[in-house]
Amino acid sequence: MSTLLEVSGVSVSFDGFKAINNLTFQIGEAEMRAVIGPNGAGKTTFMDIVTGKTRPDEGRVLWGEKSQSLLSMSESQIAQAGVGRKFQRPTVFEDQTVAENLMLALKKKRSPLPF
Ligand SMILES: Nc1ncnc2c1ncn2[C@@H]1O[C@H](COP(=O)(O)OP(=O)(O)OP(=O)(O)O)[C@@H](O)[C@H]1O
Ligand SMILES: [Mg+2]
Repeated sequence: MSTLLEVSGVSVSFDGFKAINNLTFQIGEAEMRAVIGPNGAGKTTFMDIVTGKTRPDEGRVLWGEKSQSLLSMSESQIAQAGVGRKFQRPTVFEDQTVAENLMLALKKKRSPLPF
């Protein structure tokens, strides 16, 4: 099975506190993984690194068939490359229906213009 996401040797510190230390993680296409750990283990920080919200001090994060580095990409470029994310604290648009909220989350063109 080809690797979809490959994280290797990733470390990140916040003001000297090492939140992630030499993390390695791989996932292939059509695979489902659960990342578990106690509060403060670094799960959200890991997601922040994969989605470009936090930059690691060391390591690499490669995506897709072409092993494209996500570390040189902006958050929006990473999302456009196909990496979706659900945030820890659930948020919805309360004035919209459940169906409308789901529609908003779908991957599709975002232009306000009809082309
Ligand atoms: N921006 C930041 N600045 C300073 N410290 C941070 C920052 N983000 C995370 N940390 C610290 O890094 C560690 C890992 O936090 P993280 O939120 O990734 O853990 P988690 O596994 O998602 O925990 P939880 O189960 O509570 O969601 C914690 O000690 C946290 O306080
Ligand atoms: Mg978390």
